[in-house]
Amino acid sequence: MTGDDFCNFFVNWIPLPRLRKAIYRSLGMDIHPTAHIMRNCQFVALGHIHIGARSIIGHDCFLDAKGGISIGCDVNISSFAKIITAKHLIDTADFSGLDKPVTIRDRAWIASAATILQGVEIGEGAVVAAGAVVTKDVGSFAVVGGIPAKVMGTRNRNIDYRLKSRPSRFL
Ligand SMILES: CC(C)(COP(=O)(O)OP(=O)(O)OC[C@H]1O[C@@H](n2cnc3c(N)ncnc32)[C@H](O)[C@@H]1OP(=O)(O)O)[C@@H](O)C(=O)NCCC(=O)NCCS
Repeated sequence: MTGDDFCNFFVNWIPLPRLRKAIYRSLGMDIHPTAHIMRNCQFVALGHIHIGARSIIGHDCFLDAKGGISIGCDVNISSFAKIITAKHLIDTADFSGLDKPVTIRDRAWIASAATILQGVEIGEGAVVAAGAVVTKDVGSFAVVGGIPAKVMGTRNRNIDYRLKSRPSRFL
């Protein structure tokens, strides 16, 4: 059984967030001590995930990190979001794969059930609306939504919050 399997079948159900985080770290995830991952998240290649200070990953998220996932500080990833760094090259004879990193900058918000695809950078303070599928880079403080995601607006640049991750005992 791989470290990913161990996490996805067993660890993600442990109702003790700090213990889960310690196991994720022992298996290679680079997660800041103040960051928080809620229950039942699924990982591929968790050794290629970096999560910065105070960032929060909601419950039931899916992070496929074969190409590498870098999440900055004070990033909020809401529940059921997906980050996918791998794809198949559909016109190749052997259906070969290509992995590209995803980067999410400080204070971005990825709302519920949004999907971020391979090679995308989400700029500082950007907002990805619920249910969006992001296929291209998102500029700093842009608000994007839809499939494929398009710019819906701009966020106030005057933000300086630090997320206070106080996980409830069992989340
Ligand atoms: C991104 C978001 C915050 C924008 O909220 P807002 O600025 O208050 O926007 P509004 O609700 O006023 O809607 C503005 C427009 O965007 C559209 N819109 C809102 N949410 C949308 C979405 N997820 N996808 C596409 N379009 C959306 C609205 O239909 C509206 O369109 P209109 O101007 O043609 O009528 C909100 O849409 C969203 O995605 N919320 C996510 C909620 C969530 O995930 N919560 C988790 C809790 S941690």
